[in-house]
Amino acid sequence: MSAYQQDNQRKVTTHRLSEMKARGEKISMLTSYDYSMASIVDRAGIDVILVGDSASNVICGNVTTLPITLDNMIFLARAVANGVKRALVVVDMPFGECSGNPRHSLESAIRIMKETGADTLKIEGGEEIIEDIRKIINAGIPVMGHLGLMPQSINKYGTYTVRAQEEAEAEKLIRDSKLLEEAGCYAIVLEKVPAALAKQVADMIRIPVIGIGAGGGVDGQVLVIHDMLGISQGFSPRFLRRYANLNEEITKAVGRYIEDVKNKDFPNESEQY
Ligand code: KIV
Repeated sequence: MSAYQQDNQRKVTTHRLSEMKARGEKISMLTSYDYSMASIVDRAGIDVILVGDSASNVICGNVTTLPITLDNMIFLARAVANGVKRALVVVDMPFGECSGNPRHSLESAIRIMKETGADTLKIEGGEEIIEDIRKIINAGIPVMGHLGLMPQSINKYGTYTVRAQEEAEAEKLIRDSKLLEEAGCYAIVLEKVPAALAKQVADMIRIPVIGIGAGGGVDGQVLVIHDMLGISQGFSPRFLRRYANLNEEITKAVGRYIEDVKNKDFPNESEQY
């Protein structure tokens, strides 16, 4: 086995992500929400698996990420962690669990870490919740920040449009990125911000910046797996590249199954006892 293959089988840690940034190797990250998908994605060699609160949309069918609960996230994250050997497993702190009450935030963070077997948390927000983030990191729990478009704040924005296009919001995003780095976050997700601004942030801070709709100048990329596999429908932002059309594949397979049952073609003799 080559040194590269050996290295590639080692568990991904937060430390390894910073090494990847230092040597210019891009970080690959995808969401997963269950054991079976997470084990496929892990075996394919992904660096980071995010148990995103996008589960609220793609698993539960909610319009926003707000309704998903801490218990829901713990249930999904446990299943994902059971399926993963190599990738770093990151769990989203759901809406309302980290919003300016550091003691409550730490309790929720500890529940996720104790009850799921995941490696780290991801938390949306900057300056407003920096004390919560400090408290969690001081307790030994690694935190990935999330700035730019923060879907948990959709009711404040009123739109999913590109963030930080105006100077004031761009300056705040730069300030918040520095604050998160100083607080000890090991990485930051930047969602739906101008590519030039995302690159400026990635060049400015030492921790990895992982983008979604943030261009190619950052240190890694993340997509929602249901979107990139073409399972979800009616969602086609410019940043989304589809790598399969599983919606069509699954529809065809289910259609063939229905036909076989109706035609009494399934099960055949070799498929029974
Ligand atoms: O919940 C999620 O899937 C996310 C990604 C879009 C980064 O936060």
